[in-house]
Amino acid sequence: MTKAQAQQRIIQLRQEIERYRYAYHVLDRQEISEAALDSLKHELVTLEQRYPDLITSDSPSQRVAGQPLPGFKKVRHTRPMLSLNDVFSFQELQNWAKRIQKLTTATVQYYAEIKMDGLAVSLIYRHGQLVEGSTRGDGIVGEDVTENLKTIESIPLHLQGNYPSTVEVRGEVYMTKRDFAALNQREGNKYANPRNVSAGSIRQLDSRIAASRKLSFMAYDCVADLKVTTHSAVHAQLQQFGFRSNPLNQLCASLDQIQVYHATILKQREQLDYWTDGVVINIDDLAVFAQLGSVGKAPRGAVAYKFPAEQATTIVQAIQVQVGRTGALTPVAELRPVLVAGTTVSRATLHNADEIDRLDVRVGDTVIISKAGDIIPDIVQVLTNLRPAHTKPFRFPSRCPACNTAIERRSGEVAYYCPNPNCFAQQRERLYHFVSKAGFDIRGLGPKIIDQLVTVGLVQNFADLFILTPGDLEPLERFAEKSAYKLIQEIQHASTISLERFIYALGIRHVGEETAIVLAQQFGDVKKLRQAAVGYNRDHDLLQNIPDIGDVVAGSIVDYFSDKKNAKQLDHLLKKIHIEKSQPVGTRKTFVLTGTLTTLTRDAAKQIIRQAGGKVSSSVSAQTDYVVVGDNPGSKYDKAKQLGVKILNEDQFKKMI
Ligand code: IVH
Repeated sequence: MTKAQAQQRIIQLRQEIERYRYAYHVLDRQEISEAALDSLKHELVTLEQRYPDLITSDSPSQRVAGQPLPGFKKVRHTRPMLSLNDVFSFQELQNWAKRIQKLTTATVQYYAEIKMDGLAVSLIYRHGQLVEGSTRGDGIVGEDVTENLKTIESIPLHLQGNYPSTVEVRGEVYMTKRDFAALNQREGNKYANPRNVSAGSIRQLDSRIAASRKLSFMAYDCVADLKVTTHSAVHAQLQQFGFRSNPLNQLCASLDQIQVYHATILKQREQLDYWTDGVVINIDDLAVFAQLGSVGKAPRGAVAYKFPAEQATTIVQAIQVQVGRTGALTPVAELRPVLVAGTTVSRATLHNADEIDRLDVRVGDTVIISKAGDIIPDIVQVLTNLRPAHTKPFRFPSRCPACNTAIERRSGEVAYYCPNPNCFAQQRERLYHFVSKAGFDIRGLGPKIIDQLVTVGLVQNFADLFILTPGDLEPLERFAEKSAYKLIQEIQHASTISLERFIYALGIRHVGEETAIVLAQQFGDVKKLRQAAVGYNRDHDLLQNIPDIGDVVAGSIVDYFSDKKNAKQLDHLLKKIHIEKSQPVGTRKTFVLTGTLTTLTRDAAKQIIRQAGGKVSSSVSAQTDYVVVGDNPGSKYDKAKQLGVKILNEDQFKKMI
């Protein structure tokens, strides 16, 4: 066969494979057997191996998994990937619709979609070719997982029909019930939650894993200049591009129709081959949707109308009291494993001692548990008729189950605390938190290893982690020369960290990821944060005047930094690690908005500025970097001109952001 003939054959094979792929993965039509399709693919691969210069990135052969990547590249989304607000009842849906009717005079139609229970991804096509695929990440910056997404057969590698030069498609990666069951059968029921399997597979550096898991993709949005005016038309267009858009999606003219749709899907849900946790209602008119803008992280023009939490019954096998990193004691029921809402549940929180009293839950009881989406399952009721003889009410311990210190209740709080700062369990929990993903993210350093390190006395506080050597680890269980060396490398690698992660990792009460970001942006340096906290009494306003930080959080930050032990621990730690400088507020660009923007609400514009790392101010001064001017601007516009501050119109602003 000449090269020209090979090229001809390759083109035909690709078209044929592509046609069957589309029929099977997008249209649900199996036109040839899997074995036959495999042999077409095999022929294609063989030819391409002979003439590697004929390989194109969109050839079906390129869905084959590649070598593991050293790490994911970060990708900034063209437009933030938002999330949705939830409603759980028809009443709440009506309230949502009423709020919208106050903001627009248009008569609205609704596009109702199935809410797929998977993970959101974004796909970028340039000149019709898939060039980049990313995870949602924090909504602003995601991870480049192109290679993994390319292994998903329902994602086209190139678009069909006519398309603009750049197209971004958003949708959900998920696993069908059938593929999930098959995976569990292959791997001995290893997986409890299909969503976690999808997310875990997409975030693997080795794309062979994603390829072996058989994931699917359902498109729900497109960011491109499509010249259409409704969301339903966007879906029609997505189908023309070659995507799977859910055939059960439906246009609804009224809330009553939505109600019928919701009830119908709820009934049908068991029969569907994928998991869904509700329906998504969109305002169909794109102009109205855009005009409504967003509040917080969610658009006003769409809402998730969730299905009621699912329930199941099971038996309480034990009640444990766990000690958290702050010393709070949380009772947890250990359950006979049971499947609820697509997940195997073996534990449920009992919240606190009062809740146990209220339910009178006892070991041996049959209970109803309820679970909605990601929320930790709850025990809602005890079936006392099924209670075995001779059970006793559960008595909350009076001493810490880990260190035996007498427990305390703080005024105004329902939780009991272990007041001993040296409590082994707290120490361990603080270390788990410290190395966790959102903190130092030390891979390979899980709870079991931390427990060992603490037990043998190698690690007592954070700084100790950074002086470990391979020789320290080798004698421990689960370690050999290579693995010991590898973990030390991971620890060293993690010792350079961003300020926000560092603040989060300290485990200060009430300081989660969001607050840590706010503090990092505000202070830009951990020493400054510490000074502000320790000098709090003198410098009263400093912490409290920060947006999103109230009394309680400020108080807990002050407590943390004023504690002598923490101070010492921090000093040691700072000598061992390197904190990357983050942008302090002073270097963030300041924006002032004036006049009416046509495609964004004020709040949406502010949100976008903040998410991009900028600051919004209400008055123009020489310190202002940009004034964004909409229709009918006020005196701020004149002042900006006077002071020579850079002026942006809405288009320029959007391009810049
Ligand atoms: S529209 C503003 N439609 O639900 C975000 N989302 O709770 C655009 N999801 O992060 C969402 N199926 O991952 C939309 N048919 C659907 C969906 C859907 C699943 C997910 C999506 C989003 C989450 C929001």
